[in-house]
Amino acid sequence: MVSLSPMIEISNLTHVYGGGKKALDDLSFIVEQGELVALLGPNGAGKSTTVKIITGILKPTSGSVKADGAEVSENLGRIRSILGFMPQETALYQDLTAQETLEYHAVLYGVPKEEIAERVAKMLDLAGLTQRKDDLVRTYSGGMKRRLALVRSILHDSEILILDEMSLGVDVQSRNLIWNQVRKLKSEGRTILFCTNYMDEAEALADRVIIIDNGRLVASGSTEKLKQKHVGKYLIELTLVGLEADQGSEWLGEKLKMNVEKVSEPLDGGPRTAWIQSPSGHSDLPTVIGTLTGLGLEVKAASLREPSLGDVFLAITGSKLRD
Ligand SMILES: Nc1ncnc2c1ncn2[C@@H]1O[C@H](COP(=O)(O)OP(=O)(O)OP(=O)(O)O)[C@@H](O)[C@H]1O
Ligand SMILES: [Mg+2]
Repeated sequence: MVSLSPMIEISNLTHVYGGGKKALDDLSFIVEQGELVALLGPNGAGKSTTVKIITGILKPTSGSVKADGAEVSENLGRIRSILGFMPQETALYQDLTAQETLEYHAVLYGVPKEEIAERVAKMLDLAGLTQRKDDLVRTYSGGMKRRLALVRSILHDSEILILDEMSLGVDVQSRNLIWNQVRKLKSEGRTILFCTNYMDEAEALADRVIIIDNGRLVASGSTEKLKQKHVGKYLIELTLVGLEADQGSEWLGEKLKMNVEKVSEPLDGGPRTAWIQSPSGHSDLPTVIGTLTGLGLEVKAASLREPSLGDVFLAITGSKLRD
């Protein structure tokens, strides 16, 4: 049974980097004990900055961060023992082997001496690295490095896990291994917060997602709730011929009197794709097609589907590039 009490509590967090860049702007959220939460946001939204502050690597400009009730910046020793962190840039020593990497970490994080050999062997096994344990990290593939970084973060058996882009650039096999480990850690009752740019990763793993943009919270909830709130029940996807370059989502929305989520950019006068929020599903299709045909547009293809988390993300954060 999962008891509800905040394990991570962020209040009014603001962070301004040396160069003057305001990466976080009055950000507040909590993660309950035993929750598995995805932190989403476009590139540069402030995800890594947030988790670096939670882990105590970075001191915020202002605001408060508590982990298991203790203010992080005042309890760095305790935080180290209750929190495991997998950084986005993995931060592995290239000239150590996997075995040495884990032994070094075990000593650093106070794993009892008599337990080190067994725990390290177990972690190597979990990561599928036993056969390569004596090779230098610099000879590993990207997937091997991420798997090693993951088991390093769980080696000292911490209550809270923070994973920054756990499956960045890895193949399907490594990703499955990492996801299964995360599911297992969740089933053991641990509290897990992970940053990702992969919507399918958030959808597959998270109980709840938190979306930030420009350092501010823009949405939080289960994927189902967010879909209902920000996209609606269905999306109509249309392939349209005949749209002028300046006839985008706003124009189409006015004509249809519906919310048009997005219209793809014009490309050499070719067909464009439009995504329309559809409250009633099938019964909206004939009306939409009729209206568009009446406007002189050719509807080459039309389909109806349930929204994905990616649709929610675009509806909330827009399609403009950030950095
Ligand atoms: N050390 C730094 N010095 C100055 N600015 C920084 C530094 N680190 C990050 N930033 C800036 O702060 C903002 C937030 O960066 P952050 O790395 O937290 O974003 P992110 O959401 O993790 O992005 P990504 O999806 O690309 O990993 C960005 O504008 C970034 O350029
Ligand atoms: Mg990041």
